[in-house]
Amino acid sequence: MKLDAWNIESPKPSTGGDALNVAITLTKLGANPVLSGLIGNDSNGDFVLNHLTEVGVDVRGVSRHPSEGTAVSYILIEEGGSRHFIVSTALCALFRYEDIPQTLIEEADIVYLGSAMCMEAMDRGGAAALFKKAHSLGKMTMADTAAVNPYRSSDYYLKLLDPMLKETDIFIPSYEEASAITGREDISGIRDVLAPYGFTLLIVKLGAKGCYVTDFKQEWTIPTFTDFKPVDTTGAGDSFTGGFIRGLLAGWSPETSAVFANAVASFNVTKVGATGGVPDFDTVYAYVTEHAGGVERFPLPITPEG
Ligand SMILES: Nc1ncnc2c1ncn2[C@@H]1O[C@H](COP(=O)(O)OP(=O)(O)OP(=O)(O)O)[C@@H](O)[C@H]1O
Ligand SMILES: [Mg+2]
Repeated sequence: MKLDAWNIESPKPSTGGDALNVAITLTKLGANPVLSGLIGNDSNGDFVLNHLTEVGVDVRGVSRHPSEGTAVSYILIEEGGSRHFIVSTALCALFRYEDIPQTLIEEADIVYLGSAMCMEAMDRGGAAALFKKAHSLGKMTMADTAAVNPYRSSDYYLKLLDPMLKETDIFIPSYEEASAITGREDISGIRDVLAPYGFTLLIVKLGAKGCYVTDFKQEWTIPTFTDFKPVDTTGAGDSFTGGFIRGLLAGWSPETSAVFANAVASFNVTKVGATGGVPDFDTVYAYVTEHAGGVERFPLPITPEG
């Protein structure tokens, strides 16, 4: 007998993409990010735009491609939470530096680029140009990577990212990505390979284990909070990044920002969707303040704004 259909729970459409997830997280946490990116002129693009508008994200940098469809991921989540992706991401390759309104770079404090390594035009010069421009205006630059292809070598990735990494102040990849880029499985090896770039900070996201942070003088491995039950870890890394940026904007130290970021991601993974579980600033702040175990070594300032 042939099995040709399988019943699943009602699928839940939601938005995603590194930069979008970070923008939504920051907006929910009370910051004012402006998102730049490309969506298609289709119903999925309308869906994305409607959701961003509902959350209150400033979308002045979002433009619509006339022919290519909005990037889509179908995420199959197993009962234990493991995920399998089916993706259609042709549009990601087309997003260019020239699509980003220059005034938005001028307005920004931090210029963050998500999903390096899977945006062809940005990877082939756009990201480096963006960060050079940002640096010429005195802005801080921050980069995250995505979608490791196991058939590519670390040499390939390092060469691809090199021009951007030379202009990066804060590099915030996941462990899998950092490992693929450097060809090293140990954190100290990852740090040593990346040290010559002279980042202000390197943060490696360690999934359920929390994160590693170094300013190349000191280093911290910060476990995440354990009393959250993960339901969907999609976007965990991006909500972490949004939380980390929020901490920096508050003037907190990298390690305090990382504790806060762990908490943001912990809340996020308890709900379905890439940003479904991101709470507001006060909820995370109250949680981190109450759970002394997490903050004893990394005390938050007395007031949320530092
Ligand atoms: N299973 C989990 N339980 C608790 N916290 C988690 C879990 N997975 C991730 N986190 C939190 O999310 C953060 C980032 O996770 P991860 O290392 O998976 O990033 P990522 O691979 O960039 O994720 P993605 O690209 O899917 O958003 C971790 O540092 C941790 O704070
Ligand atoms: Mg990620």
